[in-house]
Order: sequence, then structure tokens, then C-alpha cells
Amino acid sequence: MPRARREGPGKRPYAAPGLAGGPVYLDYNATTPVDPRVAEAMWPHVTDFFGNPSSSHSFSQEPRRALVEARAQVTGLIGARTREIVFTGSGSEADLLALRGAVLASGRPHPHVITQATEHPAVLETCRALERLHGARLTVLPVDGDGLVEPAALAAAFTEDTVLVSVMAANNETGALQPVTELAALAHEQGALFHCDAAQAVGKIPLDVGELGVDLLTIVGHKMYAPKGAAALYVRDGVRLKPVGLQRRAGARPARGRRTSPCPSHSAPPHSSRPPNSPTVLGPRAGAVLSAAPPPIRRVNHETSPKGSSRSPDARSSTRGARRK
Ligand SMILES: Cc1ncc(COP(=O)(O)O)c(C=O)c1O
Repeated sequence: MPRARREGPGKRPYAAPGLAGGPVYLDYNATTPVDPRVAEAMWPHVTDFFGNPSSSHSFSQEPRRALVEARAQVTGLIGARTREIVFTGSGSEADLLALRGAVLASGRPHPHVITQATEHPAVLETCRALERLHGARLTVLPVDGDGLVEPAALAAAFTEDTVLVSVMAANNETGALQPVTELAALAHEQGALFHCDAAQAVGKIPLDVGELGVDLLTIVGHKMYAPKGAAALYVRDGVRLKPVGLQRRAGARPARGRRTSPCPSHSAPPHSSRPPNSPTVLGPRAGAVLSAAPPPIRRVNHETSPKGSSRSPDARSSTRGARRK
């Protein structure tokens, strides 16, 4: 048995980091510690099951099986289908893939994008880069006193070139829950796609991509007790995205035609062009499992996010379209 395994997370007493001894850690919107159950689920894949899930020999079998399971658990978390999930290396990468991918795939010479002022820089900076580098036009909607986008303001912002609207589910600083369902419906009425950065919402409040009516949705593992380096983008069936990355290797195919960067891909075979990073994918897998056990997640976010990250009926209906009280 490899030495590292004997020292693995399941083999020694566990003290929750940031809680026992020293300063107490409360910044769970920035990131969460890795839950011991997550580490436990990952550990065999860090040590024993090193095979490339895309290979055809026996070393690939367990990594491939675990990856399929991880994908199913992530999809179960948001009501998606397995083929609609693309694993990425971070939430920022998922946002980039969604925004750049949708805008460039539109084929419009001057695509118009609408977002809102309190988005994470992963969204705002990508939008600005699209403006700078790809001739996109950008509208950044203001928010009201509750940190919310007024649906009427969105309705007034569309142009005939609007291809994409991007509005987050839950804000990373205030916890404000945007009326995503209402905003997505407005986007669809105008023939635009809707992306939702749900980094701060998935695993904390119930989310269903069908009910929300979104086309693209960002999921981030390290906000829900998984390690950094594991995230995903929900891509509704039929939505076309231009792949990210210029560094395609000879003979390599992008993940589902979408991801060509040389960093570890997490896409499932047969679409992957390089080894899916099984251990970190199993992070969100375990995160998905944990979301079925909401008490620690709910309690922590209620304490740190006063404006709506709790699982109250208000919070739920707000994300599905009604305004927060
Ligand atoms: C709302 C939101 N979107 C995106 C991100 C970026 O995620 P990552 O740190 O995995 O790139 C974060 C992380 O802080 C976030 O809070």
C-alpha cells in the first residue's frame, strides 16, 4: 500500500480547519475548507487510481467509473442531464467559457451583451475583454437599493444585437438573490441566451436549471467544501459555444468541442482531449453529496450572508423570480 495512503485523510483524527484553535474562519463566500468526507472520497483517486480515464486499459476503469458517478451527482444537484455538464478548472474558467463561448459562437459582428454592476470580476472582466478584443457592445445594468436588477431595466436594455444576458444567482458579498427566472424569461423573449453565475448559490439553496430557465450556469466546487480547481458549466442541450484556448495539441479534440486549454480537463470521455483530472472532479462530486446534507452549509451561510443565502422560503422564491422582501 502506498505510504501516502496510510497518512490519508481518513486515517487521522480530523479537526475542522478554521474552527478548532487559532482564529475562527468565517469567510465561506470566499472559499470553504475541504470537508473531511470530500477528502475521504478523493483520497483513493489521489493515491491508487491514477489511471487516465480516457485510456482503454484496466487502469482507466475505476477513474472512468468515478468520473461518470461524479458527473451524475453534479447534474443531480441542478436538475441537468449528464451530457449538459462541462467540467472546468475554476469558476472563472466556467464564466469565461460561457460568455466568450456564447458571444463568439453567435457570429454577430457587433454582439451586444448585458450584465449587471455587482457581478464577480470573472464575468465583468470577461465582458470588458469581449468589448476590447471582439467588438462586442456591453450594457452594465445598475442594481437597486437591495442589490437587485430591475426586470424593467433589463427589458429596456435589449437591442437587436443582444446575444447574451449574464446575471448571477447570489451575490458573493451581499448575498442578494437576483430574480433569475424573470430575467431569463425576458432574455428568451428577445432571442438572447441567459448565463447565470451560480457560484454562490449551488449547494446552498435549491436550484433547478429547468425551473430557472437558464441556458448556461456556473458551478464552483470550492464554495461548497470541495477543493479549489474543480468547477463546472451547465450548457443547455443545443446551446453552441466557441471553444476557449488556442493551445490545441496535435490530434487533440476539445472537450465537447469547447475546451482546448492545456490545463487538466475534467470532461468525461469520449469527448476529452487529455486526462480528466479525476481527484478534483470528485471534489464537486462529494460537494454534491454534501448538498444533500444541508445543515452545515445552511448554517454557515446564514451567519455570513445576511441578505438571502439562507434556505428560507423567501430566499427560494427570490431566486426563482420573486423579489426578496
Ligand atoms: C460569484 C462568483 N463567481 C465566480 C467566482 C470565481 O470562482 P473561482 O475562484 O473558482 O475562479 C467566484 C469566486 O469567488 C464567485 O464568488
